[in-house]
Amino acid sequence: MGAADDVKLVTEHTYGTWRAQKDWSKPLYVAGAKGSHFYDDKNNRYLDFSSQLMCSNLGHGNEAIISAICDGAKTLPYVGPSFVSDLKAKAVKSLLSVMPEGLTQFFLSTSGTEANEAAVKIARQYKAPKYKIISRYRSYHGSTGAGIALTGDPRRWFAEPVGKLPGVVFAPDAYCYRCPFGLNYPECDIRCAEYVDYMIKEEGNVAAIFIEPVVGTNGIIVPPKEYLPRLREIADENGVLLILDEVMSGWYRTGKCFSFEHWNVKPDIFTTAKGCTGAYTPVGVTVTTGDIKDFFNERFFPHGHTYAMHPLSLSAVPAAVKEYEKLFATGLPQNASAHLEKRLNELAERHKCVGEVRGIGHFWAVEIVQDRKTKKPFNTKADKAALKPLLVSELTKQMLNHGLWLISWISHFIIAPPLIITRKEIDEGIDIFDDVLKEADKKTD
Ligand SMILES: Cc1ncc(COP(=O)(O)O)c(C=O)c1O
Repeated sequence: MGAADDVKLVTEHTYGTWRAQKDWSKPLYVAGAKGSHFYDDKNNRYLDFSSQLMCSNLGHGNEAIISAICDGAKTLPYVGPSFVSDLKAKAVKSLLSVMPEGLTQFFLSTSGTEANEAAVKIARQYKAPKYKIISRYRSYHGSTGAGIALTGDPRRWFAEPVGKLPGVVFAPDAYCYRCPFGLNYPECDIRCAEYVDYMIKEEGNVAAIFIEPVVGTNGIIVPPKEYLPRLREIADENGVLLILDEVMSGWYRTGKCFSFEHWNVKPDIFTTAKGCTGAYTPVGVTVTTGDIKDFFNERFFPHGHTYAMHPLSLSAVPAAVKEYEKLFATGLPQNASAHLEKRLNELAERHKCVGEVRGIGHFWAVEIVQDRKTKKPFNTKADKAALKPLLVSELTKQMLNHGLWLISWISHFIIAPPLIITRKEIDEGIDIFDDVLKEADKKTD
């Protein structure tokens, strides 16, 4: 079978995710990948400027990780969750080596969604009878029960009312470009954080605050520096858990292993996935403090999966941890992220469609607008939910035709290349992005 046959077979017989199925007819066939690029069957090269789904943090074709997985497959690829094996012990040891002090207890699964499902169950048991969870509108936390219920973006709308989890309440976002309170930082005194305190006191029965410290798909929103420390205080003052979802922002995406380290804030529970294996195998990680684990000493821990602590999946973790350490010791990512920031900010100067460039490390958004003064967006959440054509999607299709893979979401682009990307490759990506943005300029007032 050739590539065209493969595409036909797969698109006719599988569901395309998060889309109308008529739009799942001509996906690109990927024949191979190496470094920061992937290739189609005609050997056309594409720069992976969003690390696939912001997960291939170490790029493609990493020999050390591939060989660790091959060794894992040859030794003991699977034993059930109740057994211990060498691969499981090695993964736990290497996870412990990157965790902040006090965050030492793991539930290991196979996706970010599962990591969050576990976090919610643990938090609700620990805080019972309190059960409410405060999430935010600009968020994505996974596709199943608890994850989708905690999600603020329109993917949740499609799951309602069945997917609605009782007790999830949404807080305003720390989104300074479009402040929900119409205020400006720093005069705002971070009202978005103070409002969470108000919510907890007015709602009652709040068990946890559940947020992405740096919002991922919904805008790469880096909070003001006071925000997370203040949320930590609010959680402590009110006896509420702080749960941080680092599924996308973890694993050096923001320059530090976990983004909460930028603000010296420690969560009670946090979750991660994607980058913990560089996406070579599926692993989800739920981490808690020792106190939380102790709570279950005499109580039933009501959670598990057949593939919890899956040894073959875990075989990639120690290799990935080592590769991150080696990579950062070279200084390449630190250097490249500064260059990326500079080049992206130049785009804001050149293109009137660019409303804001924001981000940190290798994690950036370029938000486009019809009018810089009014910040009128080209598209809205409602457009996405109504399956209307979105300008950003149209532009990313054009970029792909020019050899650049870039993820977009409603009215922004997500620039999150592998951490191994070079300055030269960044220039290659920015040049294509730059060219295609001219199309949006023509539609801008
Ligand atoms: C912040 C965040 N949480 C949870 C998830 C769900 O992870 P997964 O797709 O691995 O289930 C994602 C996925 O993009 C995410 O970005």
